[in-house]
Amino acid sequence: MNYDKDKVAELFDGKVEHIESRPDDAMFKQVGSKALDALELNSDDTLLDAGSGSGRNAIKASRSCSRVIGMDISRKSLERAEEKASEEGLDNLEFLYGSIEDPNESTDLTSYGINKVLVNYALHHLPDELKKQGLTNLAGIMKRPGRMVIGDIMFFEDPEAHLEKFEEVGCDGGEHDHPSTVEFLKNTLEGLGASVRVERLHPLAGIMIADF
Ligand SMILES: C[S@@+](CC[C@H](N)C(=O)[O-])C[C@H]1O[C@@H](n2cnc3c(N)ncnc32)[C@H](O)[C@@H]1O
Repeated sequence: MNYDKDKVAELFDGKVEHIESRPDDAMFKQVGSKALDALELNSDDTLLDAGSGSGRNAIKASRSCSRVIGMDISRKSLERAEEKASEEGLDNLEFLYGSIEDPNESTDLTSYGINKVLVNYALHHLPDELKKQGLTNLAGIMKRPGRMVIGDIMFFEDPEAHLEKFEEVGCDGGEHDHPSTVEFLKNTLEGLGASVRVERLHPLAGIMIADF
């Protein structure tokens, strides 16, 4: 399975405007909205939004919690997110470069007091082994008790039986997208000690709520 982090970053550097102009019913937005609700943010929470894109969810979340850190590998997306946050006069969020698989690469996040983690529509870019590494590292920087919510393309049913639905969920079928089965994600999170609930939103997409 091909995975090249810099290629994915380049892809998203070139898609900032396209993603921002997607309609509200685009699957990643619907899933993101459910995932944000499932975080049950409150004023004491510090949230890490891993794969924050141009900051849509991070900015929304910043109004309901103490602090938000958005992290992404696409520098153009990070720049746009910073621009939007500053236009809105928000001072409780920051955006920094980092990857899901190596979240401490540019900044040591362990001292941030992060107790909530959101990963919306970003994890599926990684092959399963790196997803496992990423989820392990994200769980490792999270305070306890903590909650991680994953919203993403995830296979509730045999994807071969739903090939015509790939476009609906925004899956390219394998070039840059490597979605997992629900079972793989659930087992990985449970293996890290989380108690996991799953919400199906589509045969090929949903959210997973992991309490640590
Ligand atoms: C479809 S966008 C979703 C953005 C945002 N989470 C949202 O829901 O609007 C996917 C984002 O994941 C980021 N991404 C892809 N692979 C990543 C990785 N390994 N680590 C961090 N971010 C990644 C991309 O750069 C892109 O900004």
